[in-house]
Amino acid sequence: MKVHLPVRKAILGRRTYEAPAEGRWGKIRLDFNENTTGSSAAALAALRRLSGKELAMYPEYQAPTKTLAQYFGVEPAELLLTNGGDDALRVFFDTFVEPRSHILICEPTFPMYRYYAEIAGARVETSHYSPEMEFPLAAVVKALQKRPRVFFLANPNNPTGTLVDKTAIEKILRAASRTAVVLDEAYADFAGVTGVPWIRRYPNLFIAKTFSKAAGLAGLRLGAVIAQRQSLALVRRALPPFPVNVAALSASVAAVRERRTIERYIRETKRLRQWFGRELKRRNVRVFPSAGNFLLVDFGGAGPALFRRLLRRGILIRERSKDLGPGFARITIGTEKELQAVLRILDRRGR
Ligand SMILES: Cc1ncc(COP(=O)(O)O)c(C=O)c1O
Repeated sequence: MKVHLPVRKAILGRRTYEAPAEGRWGKIRLDFNENTTGSSAAALAALRRLSGKELAMYPEYQAPTKTLAQYFGVEPAELLLTNGGDDALRVFFDTFVEPRSHILICEPTFPMYRYYAEIAGARVETSHYSPEMEFPLAAVVKALQKRPRVFFLANPNNPTGTLVDKTAIEKILRAASRTAVVLDEAYADFAGVTGVPWIRRYPNLFIAKTFSKAAGLAGLRLGAVIAQRQSLALVRRALPPFPVNVAALSASVAAVRERRTIERYIRETKRLRQWFGRELKRRNVRVFPSAGNFLLVDFGGAGPALFRRLLRRGILIRERSKDLGPGFARITIGTEKELQAVLRILDRRGR
């Protein structure tokens, strides 16, 4: 039968996103900024306790929302749970972005902002981090005059590791009276800085969170949006009734109640970030300052051969040669053993 499916123009113009996340099992995975130590035992125990009856029922959100709101230091009405951090970003397109309207981002950054904009048929205005990966504050304030529907700022930024300070963010918020400002705090735990307390002052501020990084629950897909209750009420209108599954709720509640495992991982990641950065610099690798659980590095001319060697040894890192330069890569701060494996390969140049 011949049919003519009425596909939207924005969809016809794009390709399917092929997640580069397949076939990674058993390798040293420093390519996705995951918590490579695994989730807490408390989260795993909570999953084991789930009954068949619970799996058979639609989830209830009130009690877990209360616990998770407490964890973030907000009221339940100021927190909305989503199906992963990616979905905590998608909701802004459903709420604020009309086809052919525009959003603002600073590149290089997390690709999902552009990805969702393309699906929505929206235009993307771009400011650029400097060659030293510094945040382009003046350009952003200027671009806000054009009233983008949403400004997405990953803070700290992926892949640069750049952290924008409080003064700059307040300047942005004041310049954005007609823009939803989304601070994507996927990595904020590793920076020790959050914009959460500012939601009470700025109705245009939305904070996106994920349980995929510090909490080590990427496989369960849980994210969150935090904002002033009236602002968040608008976003709620764009949400399905059951966006988050019962396994993600149980495990996340157990993980934040226990919380010591998360805190230990954050502490250890900060320590290893400093140590690994120093070790790389000692080997003449250019290392950009990072506030996340990863480092952006430039191996220069040695990059391409090194990337091939790492791959042959089953060590995955995120090459950024196509967009940033031939020797650029983003490396997740894994365990000390995993990072030592990278250094060993680096020390055996040419072999
Ligand atoms: C900046 C940033 N935001 C959001 C996410 C989304 O994470 P997830 O969908 O796993 O919650 C990521 C994941 O890498 C990220 O780097």
